[in-house]
Amino acid sequence: MQSTREVENEIIKVSRSATLRFMNDLAGKRIVLGLTGGIACFKAAELCRSLVKEGAEVQVVMTEAAAQFITPVTMQALSGQPVFTSQWDAREGNNMAHINLSRNADAILIAPASADFMAKLIHGKADELLSLMCLARPLQTVPLILAPAMNREMWAHPATQRNVAQLRADGTHVLGVGQGEQACGETGDGRMLEAEEIVEELHAFWTPKVLQGQHVLITAGPTYEAIDPVRGITNLSSGKMGFAIARAARYAGAQVSLISGPVSLPTPRGVDRVDVRSALQMHDAVQMAAPLASIFIAAAAVADWRPANAAGQKIKKDGSGETPELSFVENPDILATVAHSERAQNGKLFCVGFAAESHDLLMHATAKRVRKGVPLLVGNIGPSAFGQDDNALLLVDAKGVKELPRDTKTKLAQDLVLEIAKRIGNIEVKKT
Ligand code: CTP
Repeated sequence: MQSTREVENEIIKVSRSATLRFMNDLAGKRIVLGLTGGIACFKAAELCRSLVKEGAEVQVVMTEAAAQFITPVTMQALSGQPVFTSQWDAREGNNMAHINLSRNADAILIAPASADFMAKLIHGKADELLSLMCLARPLQTVPLILAPAMNREMWAHPATQRNVAQLRADGTHVLGVGQGEQACGETGDGRMLEAEEIVEELHAFWTPKVLQGQHVLITAGPTYEAIDPVRGITNLSSGKMGFAIARAARYAGAQVSLISGPVSLPTPRGVDRVDVRSALQMHDAVQMAAPLASIFIAAAAVADWRPANAAGQKIKKDGSGETPELSFVENPDILATVAHSERAQNGKLFCVGFAAESHDLLMHATAKRVRKGVPLLVGNIGPSAFGQDDNALLLVDAKGVKELPRDTKTKLAQDLVLEIAKRIGNIEVKKT
């Protein structure tokens, strides 16, 4: 029997063909972060910090109103760069801050974007540095992204909604708003998205839409098979790989439905999630969702067996030292059922299976692909993948084997999405 290390070496020996990578890393991106007047300016501090942490170069520009809510000193300290607040700033040699700041930017992100500022943008007004810079930016190369923030009545007002529609028609990327309690005490739509949500939106923005038009159904996490109301059988799957795939597929433009066993992970933004506990519940949820999907990725670690007769009440010790007898029945094979469905057989549903093995990965993954009847099977070493933030994958299809070397699950998920997009013909593969 091979050790885990030997199996990993086996992965590394397999073909090392270059992987097409997403370019959605924020590291090295030059982002002009514009702040306009609104209480949500306090969230811009956290946003700036998150962007810098991800390796982005952040240049802050603030309107006079924004400076009423948060000081340029704070934003300078967080961004590590002097803040610009006026078009008359004499620090620029040519006195053209609006040109100099926008020419090399990868994007201008206005967060918060006030109702008033959006109204100005649609008219091309340019009476202070930030709006002047937006108007003067090269349209083709410097995208403008807005994170609106305002009171719910202001957001719902036809004038604001008209302005949002016009901004979108002009090519501006207007993010959605959050819902909840507002600084004014009212509750409703209009809050600025949280910093981490905006960071997610930026990743999505820079991701090629290789799964546009696809509906991806994913299972993730472990299942839990009850023995009695307080005890059960489960496994060490954390759900991280399945959730990372859901996020990557969403970034790539797909509609994503995620059916998750019991995990403690937040739902990726824009993903529909159904929580289940047992293999039978996961099976039923998948049966409901599969007719709408065009891609099915079975990343869940489904329990193969469940206790034959789960007790209705807690099983008690009776003091005799005798242990309870447990007998098991086999759970339905969710992946095999879907893979053998008419839609999958007719090429309308592309199925991807996972194999969590402890040894002889290549051999087991190859055999499992045939047994499950799937075009693509992703092998990994269970013990060195469960619960970890990184992993190494072995892709097995009818043509052969491809290795995705050890990397973060985030990166591997993005690579897997590209591999799937190539196989369903959603992206052109250039021969090298
Ligand atoms: N799977 C499934 N339903 C099951 C068991 C497994 O959908 N009842 C799926 C998993 O989500 C995974 C693939 O089948 O995509 C392989 O799972 P794995 O546990 O590695 O294989 P098993 O079929 O259970 O075989 P074994 O445990 O003998 O290796």
